[in-house]
Amino acid sequence: SIGQRVDELLAKMTLEEKVGQLNQYSGDNTVTGPLTINPNKTEEIKQGKIGSMINILGSEYTRQYQDLAMQSRLKIPLLFGLDVVHGYKTTFPIPLAEAASWDLPAIELAARVAARESAASGIHWTFAPMVDISRDPRWGRVMEGAGEDTYLGSKIAYARVKGFQGDKLGDLNSVMACAKHFLAYGAAIGGRDYNSVDISKRALWETYLPPFKAALDAGAATFMNSFNDINGIPATANKHIQRDILKGQWNFTGFIVSDWGSIGEMVNHGYNADKKEAAQAAINAGSDMDMESNSYRENLVQLVREGKVSESVVDDAVRRVLHKKFELGLFDDPYRYSDAKRQQKELNNPENTKAARDMAAKSIVLLKNEQHILPLSKNTKTIGFIGPMVKLKRANHGFWAVDLKDVDSTYIVSQWEGLQQKVGKNTKLLYAKGCGINDTSKAGFQEAIDVANQSDVIVLSVGEKHDMSGEAKSRSNIQLPGVQEDLIKELQKTGKPIVVLINAGRPLVFNWTADNMPAILYTWWLGSEAGNAIADVLFGDYNPSGKLPMTFPRTEGQIPIYYNYLSTGRPAKNENDKIYVSAYIDLQNSPKFPFGYGLSYTTFGYSALKLSKTSIAKKEKLEVSLSVTNTGKVAGEEVVQLYLKDRVASIVRPVKELKDFQKIKLEPGQSKTVVFTIDNEKLSFYDNDLAFISEPGTFDVMVGSSSEDIRLRGQFELSE
Ligand code: IFM
Repeated sequence: SIGQRVDELLAKMTLEEKVGQLNQYSGDNTVTGPLTINPNKTEEIKQGKIGSMINILGSEYTRQYQDLAMQSRLKIPLLFGLDVVHGYKTTFPIPLAEAASWDLPAIELAARVAARESAASGIHWTFAPMVDISRDPRWGRVMEGAGEDTYLGSKIAYARVKGFQGDKLGDLNSVMACAKHFLAYGAAIGGRDYNSVDISKRALWETYLPPFKAALDAGAATFMNSFNDINGIPATANKHIQRDILKGQWNFTGFIVSDWGSIGEMVNHGYNADKKEAAQAAINAGSDMDMESNSYRENLVQLVREGKVSESVVDDAVRRVLHKKFELGLFDDPYRYSDAKRQQKELNNPENTKAARDMAAKSIVLLKNEQHILPLSKNTKTIGFIGPMVKLKRANHGFWAVDLKDVDSTYIVSQWEGLQQKVGKNTKLLYAKGCGINDTSKAGFQEAIDVANQSDVIVLSVGEKHDMSGEAKSRSNIQLPGVQEDLIKELQKTGKPIVVLINAGRPLVFNWTADNMPAILYTWWLGSEAGNAIADVLFGDYNPSGKLPMTFPRTEGQIPIYYNYLSTGRPAKNENDKIYVSAYIDLQNSPKFPFGYGLSYTTFGYSALKLSKTSIAKKEKLEVSLSVTNTGKVAGEEVVQLYLKDRVASIVRPVKELKDFQKIKLEPGQSKTVVFTIDNEKLSFYDNDLAFISEPGTFDVMVGSSSEDIRLRGQFELSE
């Protein structure tokens, strides 16, 4: 068995070789953190002092590095890890955008395509999915997660792990997944990256842990811890979350990698006096592998010799790492993932492009469509395509696009190219940039106005550049950057119909645009096929079906803002009620666009809500059924959302919580019955002793098209 093979190998290893397996370095070409240490990696690999490399990619390059490991005494293969976050050569929409599709099979397929491409290029392991819940759009890394909701986030976490890994490690179409960042990285105070997290244990269990549990249930082979401290203990040295919860209560048998330098950074936290102490704290707390901090390499042997770390703790960590290397089949063939032929074939697979286009179209959210401006007619004579995003390519890739050196990484369909390919010979397409994304100058406005005046309709593409959301990309001001909104105002004066595309890595604030523009598509950063997917939606070849996975605030002052807030003792009766109630005197409480919101080119009617019982005992289940009808003229998809509210409980409960959803497709006039099953788990919550309980009483059932657009209501009783 693999266990025996691991033990046999471990018995042959010196302490230095064991520590080597827990040491991970980055290549120097692609760098995803502050590269401060530069040991002679070539020599160190030959000496068995490095167990894993990150940022080494491509079949040839990984092969060269594996050659070095094969010169080491025990020939233990290297593990190659990489941030394959939303695609490899074929980039998919950023994860937050994919989450807007609420389409779990499509999301799983996107991860599978990324796995196939990277696994053919020598990569064994992706540092994805990021399953951090976040309610703060100032935090740049919201682009990498599934948004604010624990239920949706857990479903997506499961789908992504399955997509990356499949059912069994070692399948050459898959890579190991890494659920990150353990834990609560998305709750950084003020939305400032790497900042502290101060949170109750109950909130950890109710809001932040479930997506990790879902990733584990899907088989996630590895976890990554996080940069932040949690209630004063850095996650990297947090024995409670790593040993007690993950490896103890949840019985996780894979390994935990630190985040880049996070072991050494505990000195900056003031948690440890030096890197030696930090290494001791981290390994004892269950951090198995040290990414880039050099703390284990420099100190772990010594720490064992001094009796500060027991060798059995090191052995346990090494066993976990070796086990994965065996499962991947690397001891049978260390080069099995580095296959130039397979790489060539997989990176040019048209199926991958098709999946990316499909996923991109599904990720787009229609925020507004007055007077049915959209879809555009294919007979439009002149379209003015204006804005700083129109011809940019890299911007569509978004943050965390893999920087490929050895293959063609220029593959991206710009929005201009997408539209050009879509329109027929009789349509004239005009272009003006208008301004740069971050410009303060309005010098290009006149050219844009001239183009607008010659056009029948204007498509205006604005947003954030690819490096404005992502790691270390927190923003205190999340408005449309530069003078872009001024450009929109100027173009409105032409009186021409305008469709606005907003490309961004996070929810932005764009109130004037939202209030004054007739049609708005939120197009995020959609990846390689952005241009084609946007054209598909603009002309109705794909009917938009995305729903926001995060609440869009009216101003930064409302943050944190999320739909499932707790009931207060002084709720406002309505938006105008300001008398001693929980409200802002200078603003509404409601968001600009709520969680779960998104329009379609058709409309959906909800009717005939039925509950199979009016009261159930805890061991029983209840069925909620309803009918949804496509009441418009074109086929479309709707995400039917089920929310519950526990009216009275021993812990104050949210005003509503998403508990299920179904995405259905309906032809015009067609109806479908949607059935949701409610069981005790959906009715349960964590009390202050962290017991997961449900309590007898009344529950409200709400079914709707968004968290605010509730169409049908019912209720039932829960008894013991
Ligand atoms: O995987 C990432 C992590 O999410 C943030 N810091 C760097 C790591 C490796 O690139």
